[in-house]
Amino acid sequence: MEDLSLLRDDRVLLLGATGFIGRRLLPELKNKNIRLRLLVRDPSKVADLVSAHKDIEVTEGDLVSGKGLDEALRGIHSSYYLVHSMGGQSIFRNTKYAEKDKISAGNFISAAEAAGLKRVIYLGALGESGKDLSEHLKSRAEVGGILFSGKPAATVLRAAIIIGAGGASFEMLRYLVERLPVMVCPKWIDTRIQPIALPDVLAYLVGCLLNPATAGQTFDIGGDEILTYREMMQQYAEARGLAKRLIFRVPILTPLLSAYWVDLVTPIPSGVAHPLIEGLKSEVICRDKRIDEFVGVKKTPFREAVRLAFSEEKEGPGKTGF
Ligand SMILES: NC(=O)c1ccc[n+]([C@@H]2O[C@H](COP(=O)([O-])OP(=O)(O)OC[C@H]3O[C@@H](n4cnc5c(N)ncnc54)[C@H](OP(=O)(O)O)[C@@H]3O)[C@@H](O)[C@H]2O)c1
Repeated sequence: MEDLSLLRDDRVLLLGATGFIGRRLLPELKNKNIRLRLLVRDPSKVADLVSAHKDIEVTEGDLVSGKGLDEALRGIHSSYYLVHSMGGQSIFRNTKYAEKDKISAGNFISAAEAAGLKRVIYLGALGESGKDLSEHLKSRAEVGGILFSGKPAATVLRAAIIIGAGGASFEMLRYLVERLPVMVCPKWIDTRIQPIALPDVLAYLVGCLLNPATAGQTFDIGGDEILTYREMMQQYAEARGLAKRLIFRVPILTPLLSAYWVDLVTPIPSGVAHPLIEGLKSEVICRDKRIDEFVGVKKTPFREAVRLAFSEEKEGPGKTGF
């Protein structure tokens, strides 16, 4: 069997370096002296990261068109895949992102096979298969399937909401709880979910690269607590020293109405918020803990994760790019 260990001179490609996870993962990889190349649509967005660290190569490209992929993958050992196409402002239902994400993953795998890439590590989303799954969760699973179908050995990590400043789902939670002492919510408020702290996600992502035994596997990753959205909102308020939130569940609110409500109360672009809200009806909890046999991570409790997000982002809503 081929040895997939990463050697000192090997270079790793980071896709999504300008994003919430990618920007935080980059310094963690540099702390381990990992040589990096980035493929970005706009190099000016990573100028600060590149000047703060040694030995980072930057290539310009786009996964949907496939431009720049061959050059970016040349001589690369392993690649992180931290990309999605949700975004934009529209009151209409946006499903184009799913098509773009399918095309992107296909372009990536064709170029990766041609370049002889050994491994790809993808951070996707938790969620059971089934017809009730939201478009977004289906699309994340579809991308995982495409990456798995290629020659490079894929590692898929599946996570629910990631607690960290600037994450779209976390920012939605934060704006709602900070701004609304009283909330009227549909039945998703009692859906169960298993959040995970950003530092724990980063530790798993780095750990999977350094442990080749994780290649060719899918793992669920989550914190130790399974909470309903209601409990998450209350614990968020506690961690921030806010008064207990009054949350009423009503039967008449549809997910679409709550999406319009989120548009009013938070600055999260609707092209991101609406697909995420559609997914709130699905229970997203880890079905197995096999990852612990491969990568040891001490789990950060939810309230501590909220405090960490705020120590990174002291000035509260409005300072995270949304
Ligand atoms: N955030 C969470 O709570 C969460 C939870 C579970 C799983 N995940 C997964 O984690 C991964 C990363 O998510 P994130 O929250 O970091 O997302 P994000 O902040 O929105 O970042 C998305 C990244 O994708 C890049 N991108 C989009 N389209 C591209 C294209 N056509 N070509 C090249 N790059 C492109 C963006 O680059 P630009 O700067 O050019 O737009 C950006 O760097 C995703 O797979 C997501 O499903 C996230």
